[in-house]
Amino acid sequence: MQTVNRIVTLREQVRAWRKEGLRIALVPTMGNLHKGHVSLVAHAQDHADRVIVSVFVNPLQFGPTEDYEDYPRTLEHDTQLLTKVNANLLFAPPVYEIYPAGHEHTTTVEVADLSGILCGAFRPGHFTGVATVVTKLLNIVAPDVAVFGEKDFQQLIVIRRLVADLCLPVEILGGPTIRDHDGLALSSRNKYLSPRERDLAPKLYESLKLA
Ligand code: PAF
Repeated sequence: MQTVNRIVTLREQVRAWRKEGLRIALVPTMGNLHKGHVSLVAHAQDHADRVIVSVFVNPLQFGPTEDYEDYPRTLEHDTQLLTKVNANLLFAPPVYEIYPAGHEHTTTVEVADLSGILCGAFRPGHFTGVATVVTKLLNIVAPDVAVFGEKDFQQLIVIRRLVADLCLPVEILGGPTIRDHDGLALSSRNKYLSPRERDLAPKLYESLKLA
């Protein structure tokens, strides 16, 4: 597996694969990869000849009191895991490659209606940050398909809507949620839970299933 940090290098590789007539999938992530991400890569491999995984902790989708600085960055582990599961290319750009003028000054993509409800009502600007970086990644890679987890269901709906509204030529696939033995959805942020919160968290899933 090759690792690429620059947009220009990534595009050269994508162009070469396109010349060979290969179908390309993108799996956008913020790294700290776990079994949930591995299942998204497997899903992408079922739908394409080459799979690109991006690892980019996107400053634009974190609120001022959120965990941007502390978000787990584990590129070495991620590289090993992606190599093991036969991903073809890891795109891990630095922040200035994605936001050359700084993320505070970038052009943004706002998905109407859907961004300010549910989780978006409690995280102002979050879905605009997600929509902006996903639009940029889709423009950079120009994949045939892109795969996102159903775990972040509102995010998936926001992305489907932006792709439809902006007429982006890509198919968006949802990958099923992967759960721990007790039903808790796997997530990089589960490590923030105290032992008591970790015990309680699966009860939400249980209750939802009962309801
Ligand atoms: O779900 C995530 O990991 C992120 O929100 C995404 C889609 C990679 C955009 O930064």
